[in-house]
Amino acid sequence: MNAFTKIEDLVMPLPLETRGYTVTPSKQSPRLLELTFARETVEAFVKAVAEWPVQALEYKSFLRFRVGQILDDLCEGTLRPVLLNTILGRSTGGMLIKPEGLDDVSQAEDMVKFTTACAHLIGRSNFDAMSGQYYARFVVVNTDNSDSYLRQPHRVMELHNDGTFVDQITDYVLMLKIDEKNMEGGNSLLLHLDDWEDLDAFFTHPLARRDMRWTAPPSKNTTKDVFHSVFDIDAEGRPTMRYIDQFVQPANFEEGVWLHALSESIEGSEQKLSIPVPVGSFLLINNLFWLHGRDRFIPHDGLRRELMRQRGYISFQKPMYQRGQ
Ligand SMILES: [Fe+2]
Repeated sequence: MNAFTKIEDLVMPLPLETRGYTVTPSKQSPRLLELTFARETVEAFVKAVAEWPVQALEYKSFLRFRVGQILDDLCEGTLRPVLLNTILGRSTGGMLIKPEGLDDVSQAEDMVKFTTACAHLIGRSNFDAMSGQYYARFVVVNTDNSDSYLRQPHRVMELHNDGTFVDQITDYVLMLKIDEKNMEGGNSLLLHLDDWEDLDAFFTHPLARRDMRWTAPPSKNTTKDVFHSVFDIDAEGRPTMRYIDQFVQPANFEEGVWLHALSESIEGSEQKLSIPVPVGSFLLINNLFWLHGRDRFIPHDGLRRELMRQRGYISFQKPMYQRGQ
């Protein structure tokens, strides 16, 4: 289906053809695929799920899976295998998803439903303590006095993984652009671990697997510290990462200077991708081997950006005939 998925990565047979959407490598990297949904597919989806406001999806978890099934049915069953293989495939793991015709903040509810459908074809979105829902919408404006860099527009939000300070598996991150006004700059920044020049040096360092303490500021609504190492491995022994500069609490000088060197190396990578995300489009990335961040914005009094995120775990069952293989 695409040249960038290795056979050993496949979890489901790939469709011979995609229906209702297209898949192409992004301009920035073959690791990041672009899925573009045809306007007809998007309109049919919006119509088919019109009976449920987002509140219904909040109240009844199973409806999130049902809207996923509806979207997959509209794509004649070709969507779920493509989403799963791409998010799990080590050589890819990232998508920029563009639903044509969903491009105005007045369609925010439909955007949330569409992202919910995609997320629940690969797994399930976790409870987000910041919003008390399975997703969180938040606004970035020109002035901010929050306690993390999430909503501060005039500086880079450094590359990191999500879910570092919660005791929940965070396999994927989905980031949707709901609105954007007077914006210059602010591209999403991404780095695939296998593209990072210094991965081996840091992954093989004695501190790579040492448990460290992670703690969040008050706005995150989590009170318990968690402990884990910066690096881990996946089932095939390949490096995975759970790291964010703002929330790691080094225990001593040795850890502190190592973390600082790690941060400098990541931020200095030549392999960082800068991705413009149009209104209504969203990034869906494997959180264990992609780092993400955000470039700085140019100040503007009328600056407004609204985003939505979902984070969760990947879960699927192989079709019966594949079991035992
Ligand atoms: Fe993040």
